[in-house]
Amino acid sequence: MRKTITAILLVATITAGCSSNLEEDASGAEIYSALCSRCHSSDLSGGIGPALGAGSDLVDQPDTYLLQTISAGLGRMPAFRFNLTEAQIERVADYLRSQQESG
Ligand code: HEC
Repeated sequence: MRKTITAILLVATITAGCSSNLEEDASGAEIYSALCSRCHSSDLSGGIGPALGAGSDLVDQPDTYLLQTISAGLGRMPAFRFNLTEAQIERVADYLRSQQESG
C-alpha cells in the first residue's frame, strides 16, 4: 500500500515537472530558444513576429510593455503566463535587453 502511494506521488511529481519542458531555473537564452525563436528567429531578427534585437522598435519600449507582451500575448503572439513563471518571464526579458545592448 505504502509503495503504491509512493509510486503515485512520484508520477505526479514527474508529470508536474514536465508541464513545460523547461527547467525552473532555465536561463533567458534557453527560454528564448525553446519558446520564442520559432517566431522571432534565433538571432532575434524576426520572422512571423517582429525583430526584437538591436535596432528594433522594442528598444524604445519600456520594460512594462516587454513583460506585459510576454505575459499576456499580443495580436498573433500567444500569452506565456500559463507556461512560464514570473521569474522566467523576467529572465527572458533580460535576455532580450542584453542582446539589444550587445548588438
Ligand atoms: C507563434 C509565434 C510567436 C511566438 C512563439 C512568440 N511570439 Fe512574440 N510576437 C509574435 C507576433 C506575431 C508579434 C507581433 C504582435 C502584434 O503586434 O500584433 C509578437 C510581438 C512580440 C513583442 C513585441 C514587439 C514589439 O516591438 O512590439 C515581444 C516583446 C515579443 N513578441 C516577445 C516574445 C518572446 C519573449 C517570446 C517567447 C517567450 C515570443 N515573443 C514568442 C509572435 C510570436
